[in-house]
Amino acid sequence: MGDRLAGKVAILAGGATGMGRTTALRFAQEGAKVMIADRNRAASDETLAMVRDITPDAEVVAVDVSKWGQVQNMVDATVERFGRVDVLVNLAAILMLTPPLIDVEERQWDLIMDTNLKGTFFCCKAAIPAMLKGGGGSIVNISSSAGLDAWTRSLPYNISKAGVIHLTSVISGQYTPQGIRVNCIVPGPVDTPQARGSSQSADLLAAVAAEHPMGRIGRPEEISNAILFLASDEASFVSGATYVVDGGARTSGRRS
Ligand SMILES: NC(=O)c1ccc[n+]([C@@H]2O[C@H](COP(=O)([O-])OP(=O)(O)OC[C@H]3O[C@@H](n4cnc5c(N)ncnc54)[C@H](O)[C@@H]3O)[C@@H](O)[C@H]2O)c1
Repeated sequence: MGDRLAGKVAILAGGATGMGRTTALRFAQEGAKVMIADRNRAASDETLAMVRDITPDAEVVAVDVSKWGQVQNMVDATVERFGRVDVLVNLAAILMLTPPLIDVEERQWDLIMDTNLKGTFFCCKAAIPAMLKGGGGSIVNISSSAGLDAWTRSLPYNISKAGVIHLTSVISGQYTPQGIRVNCIVPGPVDTPQARGSSQSADLLAAVAAEHPMGRIGRPEEISNAILFLASDEASFVSGATYVVDGGARTSGRRS
């Protein structure tokens, strides 16, 4: 237990599973009040029960981040329960594998962009006014190495995650002067439900791990530690940054 986020109110959009769950737990260990915001109610409740073993200051709100009214409600519910918003972490995303460009269906493009990019935009748009009322805040957006490198198995996912990186830069440019730091983490492959779903088989996931310069893929807790740093006041001079957290995968030329 620590106090790196003591008294801070954090919304974790996509906080039910994977990195969202480990971040909820990490934040609670560091004194944050945690709002788990996700469309997966059952997993949200599981995460809530785990967080409540650490702190009573935790709540769940159901949200589809691609729906503006629900996102606004997510922020309103947080302010109603905890009085303010200091931190927003945007983890909610979907990864659907798609065929090459000419066979990508419009509904695939729309679903992925609406969730991953418009959802991040909506969450920032709803949370920033609440942060400004409290005198500032910290936003951590989660992109992907697919947002930097041309990973060919899902064009819409790549583009949505590239958009998250640039969205981060523009929001930082607009709101850092008003006390809101905005940063982006670019994870490499991490062992979560999303990675297991997109790998399609345990063998493929094992192959990705074997090719990785560390001989393994990341653990979600390792991404949560980076999120914690950026969310906390320890990163008081960090805004507009893009942090690659991939165990050296990009520098080894292996980018799976
Ligand atoms: N796992 C990896 O290898 C990897 C690599 C790079 C980036 N990422 C990114 O990290 C973030 C966390 O992913 P994860 O790996 O923990 O996956 P995950 O699938 O465990 O978590 C994603 C969460 O987002 C929620 N979600 C999806 N669509 C939603 C919507 N419309 N509204 C509200 N909630 C929604 C899901 O219910 C889930 O709880 C994502 O942005 C993902 O793209 C993951």
